[in-house]
Amino acid sequence: MKKLNIAMIGYKFMGKVHSNAWRQVNRFFDTPFEPVMKVICGRNEEETKRAANLYGWEEYSTSWEQVVRRKDIDVIDICTPGDAHLPIAIGAAGAGKVVFCEKPLANTLAEAEQMLAAVRTNNVINMLCYNYRRAPAVALAKQLIDEGRIGKIYHFRGSYLQDWIVNSDFPLVWRLEKAKAGSGALGDLSSHIIDIARFLVGEISDVAGLLKTFINERPLEAGSQKLGKVDVDDAALSLVKFDNGAIGSIESSRMAPGNKNRNRFEINGSLGSLAFDLERLNELELYIEDGANSGFKTIMVTDSTHPYMSAWYPPGHIIGYEHTFIHTVLDLLKAIDEQKLPTPNFEDGWRNQKVMDAIERASQSSSWETV
Ligand SMILES: NC(=O)c1ccc[n+]([C@@H]2O[C@H](COP(=O)([O-])OP(=O)(O)OC[C@H]3O[C@@H](n4cnc5c(N)ncnc54)[C@H](O)[C@@H]3O)[C@@H](O)[C@H]2O)c1
Repeated sequence: MKKLNIAMIGYKFMGKVHSNAWRQVNRFFDTPFEPVMKVICGRNEEETKRAANLYGWEEYSTSWEQVVRRKDIDVIDICTPGDAHLPIAIGAAGAGKVVFCEKPLANTLAEAEQMLAAVRTNNVINMLCYNYRRAPAVALAKQLIDEGRIGKIYHFRGSYLQDWIVNSDFPLVWRLEKAKAGSGALGDLSSHIIDIARFLVGEISDVAGLLKTFINERPLEAGSQKLGKVDVDDAALSLVKFDNGAIGSIESSRMAPGNKNRNRFEINGSLGSLAFDLERLNELELYIEDGANSGFKTIMVTDSTHPYMSAWYPPGHIIGYEHTFIHTVLDLLKAIDEQKLPTPNFEDGWRNQKVMDAIERASQSSSWETV
């Protein structure tokens, strides 16, 4: 089998998840390549070395600039905070590598434009890791919508709620700094919902928006008396209009106690409705207007006929969060083999960023903004 050498930049949360995906994909799926976990990259040598041993990377490096220039590397997998996406992606594209990048694509729309231009100019395959598209239940929702089972779509209702910063003593980590993260709940959470909305419903044309920061100062470090300014949103709300006439709402917050990672959507069409909740990842709720029943039914999306499920376990043996990333790298490997652009790619990331940019503008102007 052909080998494909992977280099991954960043070794913490997504680094752990992506390492697992690269390691597992060939153990369950027939893929065109054997991904070789060649080199992991971080800034702290001891920590990067530890991560290399723990996750099974052959080598480690503390210079992404050197890694992207290496002739033996085929794919650059970017798992860093948003402020490092642009230089690494542009460097990787310039060196002719496949670029696989965590979401959101960039910290600003202008950066997203530059990154899209770089992958186009250098004609390199690129993909963005909006992994929830590849939860089998979400992929099944896409199939049902494409088959016309819920008819013409009227409503999209998406929310992504977490509660990890409710305590005002929680420190000013990178996700709360605009210079590092670009935005708060908007880029971190709403961007996922925007991707699902674009995937399942279509392009968003206009938005109303409301960004809110509830806690404006936080300890610079855990336990510190010194406070720093929070310059990103804690919560992001928006109303959206789609090109196809559907309307929707997108809400995200990190200040919603009791919600750990509750990423939900409901879609209502002329013939029925669909609903999904990430905290019940194996299930899809479906209601079909057939005059015979009056409620949603729960589809257990674990049959071998369901998207991605033939590679896993017998029906009812549920899968989880990590599998959505394994499915994502699977489709990236297939796309590289076919020399086709996978989705979502940098263009999707740029379109997503346009929606976020419009939500920010709408929040400032208190009026509807065109995407
Ligand atoms: N797809 C998803 O569901 C999902 C979930 C969480 C995070 N993310 C995205 O993944 C990215 C990383 O988030 P995370 O949660 O893994 O963050 P993290 O803080 O857990 O890890 C970030 C890693 O990047 C490294 N890093 C930071 N700046 C760097 C630089 N300049 N050069 C080299 N390495 C650098 C850090 O040392 C660390 O290893 C972000 O873009 C985030 O939005 C996506």
